[in-house]
This record gives sequence, C-alpha cells and structure tokens, in this order.
Amino acid sequence: MLLSITNLDFAYGEAQILYNVTLDVELGKVTCLMGRNGVGKTTLLRNIMGTLKSNAGRMLFAGQDIIKKPPHERAKLGISLVPQGRDIFPKLTVEENLRIGLEARSDGITKIPPEIFELFPVLHDMRRRMGGDLSGGQQQQLAIGRALAGNPGLLLLDEPTEGIQPSIIKQIGVVLRKLSQRGDMAIVLVEQYLDFVKEFGDSFHIMNRGRFVHSGTIDALSDNVVKEHLSV
Ligand SMILES: Nc1ncnc2c1ncn2[C@@H]1O[C@H](COP(=O)(O)OP(=O)(O)OP(=O)(O)O)[C@@H](O)[C@H]1O
Ligand SMILES: [Mg+2]
Repeated sequence: MLLSITNLDFAYGEAQILYNVTLDVELGKVTCLMGRNGVGKTTLLRNIMGTLKSNAGRMLFAGQDIIKKPPHERAKLGISLVPQGRDIFPKLTVEENLRIGLEARSDGITKIPPEIFELFPVLHDMRRRMGGDLSGGQQQQLAIGRALAGNPGLLLLDEPTEGIQPSIIKQIGVVLRKLSQRGDMAIVLVEQYLDFVKEFGDSFHIMNRGRFVHSGTIDALSDNVVKEHLSV
C-alpha cells in the first residue's frame, strides 16, 4: 500500500469530525471517497495533506510515518491535493500557476514537464492567460496540472467534477485513468457524481458523519448501496 491510515480521529476543537477512519490506498488505483454533504470528506483529505492535524491514529506513506509531518514535508514526499473549489491563482498566468506546483518537487526540476501539456493541451494553448480568465472546467484542469507539476505519488482530488461541463468532466476522467494506469501513482478521488465514480473508479468507501460505513470494489456499488447511503 502506498498510503495506510489506521484509526484516524480528527476534531475541530470540541467538535469531532472523523472517527476511527481506516483506509488503504494502492498504487495504480483510483480510490473513491463518497458521502453526502458535510460528512467529512474534505476534512479527511486535509488530514492526509497535513493542513489539518489529526488527533489520533497512524498514517504511513511509502512506509514512512507521516502523522506528525507538516504539509510542506508531505508535499515533498509526493502528496498533492487538488482542493475543492480549485484555488488557482487568478492574477497569475496559467504558466505561473503551473510553476508554483514545481516547488513541491524533490528532484529540483524547474521546467514544467511537457507531459502536463500533453494531458491537458488547453493549458498549453492558454499558458499566457490569467488563471482567473479561464472557464471553471479549464481552471479545474489547471488545478490538476499544478498538482501534477509536483510529481506526486499520491494525488488527492476533492470533487473535481463539481460545477463543470460534461465534455471537460470526461476529459478529466480520461486523464485520471491514464495516470492510474501508469502504475506509479495512487489517486484518491472525493466525488459525489456517481456515474463518474462508476466509470473511472476502482474501489469506493462511503462516509457518513465522519465514519466509513460501506466499502467495496466499484462493481459492488449497487443501486441498493447508493439508495441506502447516498440518496438525499
Ligand atoms: N473550521 C471548521 N470548524 C468547525 N467545523 C467545521 C469546520 N470546517 C468544517 N466543519 C464541519 O466539519 C464537517 C465536515 O466538513 P467537510 O467539509 O469535511 O465535509 P464534506 O464531506 O467535504 O462536505 P461537502 O460534500 O459539502 O464538501 C461539517 O459538519 C462541517 O460543518
Ligand atoms: Mg468537501
């Protein structure tokens, strides 16, 4: 396993948000985290990135105990988060946004890897445009490109399809599949869009009120499971 989380707890002050979360994430796979609004999906990704400090539990990344490491050290080790809402820099160009992603690299490479432009040709076409002038879908592609510029072994994506048009959703799915099929990256996908999960995911975990309540391989994500845990 690239990432192994055991019995993780997290609280905002007195308010406990994550309870006893145990999760294994494998190289070459897209591991999906699902659940209704407010159940703790983003909180879990932030615990993995280290921007929120876990209260208890173990977290091993590539065999190293990372639970006490600050976010920049986790980034250097190869963990990268594409945040919910994208958070690109609107007043910087596409190229400058991608350069910021390079800072997480541990190999000292200072050139944007051509692969990023191969995966997302639109970022090459628009490299001199301001991030803020891109469409929502293009900004999402930029956010993913920026994360990839850091050469991550673990890519965390927080609802990448949220508010994005279907044609770009498809392109993003195809890129995720390509990345996972390379075999040297693990992807954790937080996603509420069921068809996207079914098409591009390998396994799923459903959260409810900070706990994992159901897990399986994607083919086990049946209508009954969806009805019980995900329907509103
Ligand atoms: N800064 C904070 N202080 C206290 N509680 C918070 C804080 N941020 C989030 N929460 C609470 O933590 C819980 C989990 O939030 P989180 O953002 O992880 O949910 P989510 O599953 O990502 O939801 P969504 O699908 O809407 O993105 C929610 O009940 C939320 O209100
Ligand atoms: Mg969220």
